Amino acid sequence: MCGIVGILGTRAAAPLLVDSLKRLEYRGYDSAGVATLEDGRLARCRAEGKLKHLEDRLKATRLTGRTGIGHTRWATHGAPTESNAHPHATDRLALVHNGIIENYRELRGELEQCGAVFASDTDTEVIAHLIDLGLASGAAPKEAVEAALRRLRGAFAIAVLFGGDDELMIGARRGSPLAIGHGDGEMYLGSDAIALAPLTDQIAYLEDGDLAVLIRTGVDVFDADGRPVERPPTRATVTSLLVDKGNHRHFMLKEINEQPEVVGHTLAHYLDLTGGRCKPLDLGVDFARLDRLSITACGTAYYAGMVARYWFERFARLPIDIDIASEFRYREQPLAKKGLSLVISQSGETADTLASLRYAKAEGQQVAAVVNVEQSTIAREADMILPTLAGPEIGVASTKAFTCQLAVLACLAIAAGRARNVLPEAEEARLVAAFAEVPRLMSQVLRLEDGIEAIARDLGRAEHVLYLGRGTSYPIALEGALKLKEISYIHAEGYAAGELKHGPIALIDEAMPVVVIAPHDHVFEKTVSNVQEVAARDGRIILVSDEAGISAAGVNADRVVVPSMPAEITPLVYALPVQLLAYHTAVFMGTDVDQPRNLAKSVTVE
Ligand code: F6R
Repeated sequence: MCGIVGILGTRAAAPLLVDSLKRLEYRGYDSAGVATLEDGRLARCRAEGKLKHLEDRLKATRLTGRTGIGHTRWATHGAPTESNAHPHATDRLALVHNGIIENYRELRGELEQCGAVFASDTDTEVIAHLIDLGLASGAAPKEAVEAALRRLRGAFAIAVLFGGDDELMIGARRGSPLAIGHGDGEMYLGSDAIALAPLTDQIAYLEDGDLAVLIRTGVDVFDADGRPVERPPTRATVTSLLVDKGNHRHFMLKEINEQPEVVGHTLAHYLDLTGGRCKPLDLGVDFARLDRLSITACGTAYYAGMVARYWFERFARLPIDIDIASEFRYREQPLAKKGLSLVISQSGETADTLASLRYAKAEGQQVAAVVNVEQSTIAREADMILPTLAGPEIGVASTKAFTCQLAVLACLAIAAGRARNVLPEAEEARLVAAFAEVPRLMSQVLRLEDGIEAIARDLGRAEHVLYLGRGTSYPIALEGALKLKEISYIHAEGYAAGELKHGPIALIDEAMPVVVIAPHDHVFEKTVSNVQEVAARDGRIILVSDEAGISAAGVNADRVVVPSMPAEITPLVYALPVQLLAYHTAVFMGTDVDQPRNLAKSVTVE
């Protein structure tokens, strides 16, 4: 993953680089570093851990150069140490890289035989030495970079500075995103427009295979075949202000609390709430003609897709194939020509989801993307975009993006039902009215926070936690378990409640909390039988249900009493108690809620 930034400026570059890196920390925070050029001399400063360590170190280091590159790392090859931190350098150049070089072992062996001495365990350092080799043999910087890139297998976005030339920076991308920023007598480069927002809003996105030669007054771009191409800048709409936590202790808590508002916006974008119908979707897709729809995503976005399967099958009678993107991309699944694939991604940069999109397009499918970042690679490569209007999500654990994905998918399923003539108009109106209630119900659930916090203190003492749910509550159980493990580091698993007796029941004893997501819907009684099975084995039950469900369950349990609501909308509302439960457990455990260990917000590697 990693975030990269480069500046050819007229002021000291280091503080500006750090400011941009703060905006890229969502891409990784294992280490950070900058390199600058001053009177042709390369200088570097790097630090293990979060950016604040680099900031502390920079206070004691005089880096005054106006040309510089910076990096924030999510470790893939090599431990998160200072020696593995970027920029990597030789006597002739310094380089930052986002991506993975798959053939780095063989290249490293080859380079070592030629006398290269490696100072890190990273895959990236081979790029630095390959370019260095070219420069040493007399090649100009652009030719040396091109020759090096031809040797690489894998994904990369890079930025390179050259000793002796304060006026030059080269960037290139294959697989990983790279944006070029145009300033007033300054030029920039970065992993995304948000990183460059304090510097400029004039942004051009490089296409896959592009190489960019930047000088202080402009840029020349060459495509994958080396032909000069125009990548004209357009005005980016991202805010230049750093998104802040407001009065909340963590971004995650702020984002949980934003859900009534952002889900409301998203629903209003797709639904005609007064008319009781879906707004016409200008997708260019005839749902009536589709035999099936294939959905692909990763992690939380995949769970949103799992919920959507129930909706599409029920509202639109449309069979759904759903896959985890990292599996789908290598399964070689035959896809119907002119069929429709749907990818779901908050960041729009997830490598596996992007690869699935490309596979589906290569198979002749149209691809629609549910994305939160409209400038992202997935948004740009998809045939049509269904935006989620969640706003920037900073907490690494996805919350508001998830419920906004659910909102978009519900609207799409209703629209598909109408287009296929299987959802009567009156039923559409009933569903639209039900979904219109979601923001209000979410606000009510947020008021349950104190009770959930008390339960979380107990959960924080457990070593393992099970989450159970049936129907659309099953993906919410999976999501609850994922949230808990990623931010509190407590081992948690989600199961379809009916699967309990097929294995996991062996784990139940008095030390095992079981969180049951059980709205009082048509499968409630089945779920209650499973709850009884847990109770009979002294399991500790945390029941998330409504009044009717709690009284019908008749078991001794910690309770989260959610308002009653139509069954179709429960996934959106029940997501909130499981998010709050994970959040307060993590706070109780004292973990880094917004930047949990080993994770990154945007997963741009396989
Ligand atoms: C979990 C989480 C991840 C992401 C996954 C996909 O809280 O955030 O599981 O959902 O990495 O990311 P996107 O949606 O950006 O493709």
